[in-house]
Amino acid sequence: MLKFYFKAKTYKDFDNSNVSQLIYNILELNDSHYRITEIENIRKTLKRDSRTINIRDLGAGSTFSKENIRSINSIANSALSPKWQCHLLYKTINEFMPENILELGTSLGISTSYLAIGNPSSTVTTLEGSEAVASIAMENFAKLRLKNIKLVYGDFDNTLPILLKNMKEIDFAFIDGNHKKEATIKYFQQILKKSTNHTIMVFDDIHWSKGMENAWEEIKKSDSIKLTLDFFSFGIILFDKRFGSGNHYSVIERKFKLWK
Ligand SMILES: C[S@@+](CC[C@H](N)C(=O)[O-])C[C@H]1O[C@@H](n2cnc3c(N)ncnc32)[C@H](O)[C@@H]1O
Repeated sequence: MLKFYFKAKTYKDFDNSNVSQLIYNILELNDSHYRITEIENIRKTLKRDSRTINIRDLGAGSTFSKENIRSINSIANSALSPKWQCHLLYKTINEFMPENILELGTSLGISTSYLAIGNPSSTVTTLEGSEAVASIAMENFAKLRLKNIKLVYGDFDNTLPILLKNMKEIDFAFIDGNHKKEATIKYFQQILKKSTNHTIMVFDDIHWSKGMENAWEEIKKSDSIKLTLDFFSFGIILFDKRFGSGNHYSVIERKFKLWK
């Protein structure tokens, strides 16, 4: 963490104005959206929901415990991307307006909802392997009246190849499930086949374990990558040459490096 902190750059430290502007827009701009309040109200309700559900243990190394019975509030408190990260996803979608959005790991549907409001004319396809969790996510999409989400239930190993076969290209992918090294590298390679130079990929929990750190280092070696941005809890990959020629940076909000 300390190593990351001292290495991390702020938007002011880049010569490439496209990179600097992108980081400013997604990390520093404090714009809001009335729908964010609605989504965060759902998150609050989930954090108070003591109903229990039987979850499928996919052995995915996620924050889910090995117990099969979980309360919704314990999932809401441990497995979901925090508000600031969801907001950053929303702003990234808003910046690039991707049409075909893919998410691996729906859970209760909070990050999915942020992806969906980022570009209401997009189609967000989200994959979840635990049926009971997926049905709560569906309830939340209905409460939020989000019509541009398709939830596909099943193990990524089965659902992802079929889905990719039927999709022409992926414009944006958020990979947030099965935090194992081999699986993460495999998802990257599978999605890469449907990527173009405007595709954006976001990998969650890139420093969560040694295996995830190794996966991130391995993925960064791909020749087609033009820029990676490491925000510590997640990393963003861009393939557009406007953003460089294979550069890798750690990035932090300017307020955390005020003396600079
Ligand atoms: C960390 S949670 C996703 C959180 C969500 N993206 C958010 O931020 O609101 C990961 C989810 O991925 C699902 N998952 C993990 N491994 C999976 C697999 N191999 N196939 C399908 N779903 C899987 C889990 O059931 C869990 O709901």
